[in-house]
Amino acid sequence: MPVRSASQGILSDDKAAKREELIELLKKAYWMEIETVMSYIANSINPDGVRAQEIIESLQADITEELGHAQQFANRIKELYGVVPGSLDFSAEQSYLQPPDHQTDIVHVIKGVIEAETGAIEHYNRIIEFTDGIDFVTQDMVIAILRDEEGHRRLFEGYLREYEAEGLA
Ligand SMILES: [Fe+2]
Ligand SMILES: [Fe+2]
Repeated sequence: MPVRSASQGILSDDKAAKREELIELLKKAYWMEIETVMSYIANSINPDGVRAQEIIESLQADITEELGHAQQFANRIKELYGVVPGSLDFSAEQSYLQPPDHQTDIVHVIKGVIEAETGAIEHYNRIIEFTDGIDFVTQDMVIAILRDEEGHRRLFEGYLREYEAEGLA
């Protein structure tokens, strides 16, 4: 029996090249989520001071969400006949989320989170555009993830506003 492929969209044989390109975009997204988990763990534990508590609790909640995103990207890589990369392929990029010189420097953490979320928002918009008309399933998944990242950024923009209003940022 011949393998049907004419109506299989992104999973059809003649879409192999597009699929490879998409898998590379998804791998990048996967690593971004993994690095964000690492950065948010550190930045949810390092900060000192009364004012750090709200940030700590926010980041703790986000860690679970970002980990969930990483798992979704990994699953989609497999569904597209790709292989989830091993840890040796990882290279870090979040210079802006390294521990600050002083652990009471909450503004540093807030700005770092906003930058990480902005990077994710940019990359996920790229994937949404790339998948348009090609792979609606990946597009749908990434749209939902994008909404989470927009929510994360908005929350931290609110924190930054408070510091700015007090002349502390
Ligand atoms: Fe995420
Ligand atoms: Fe996020």
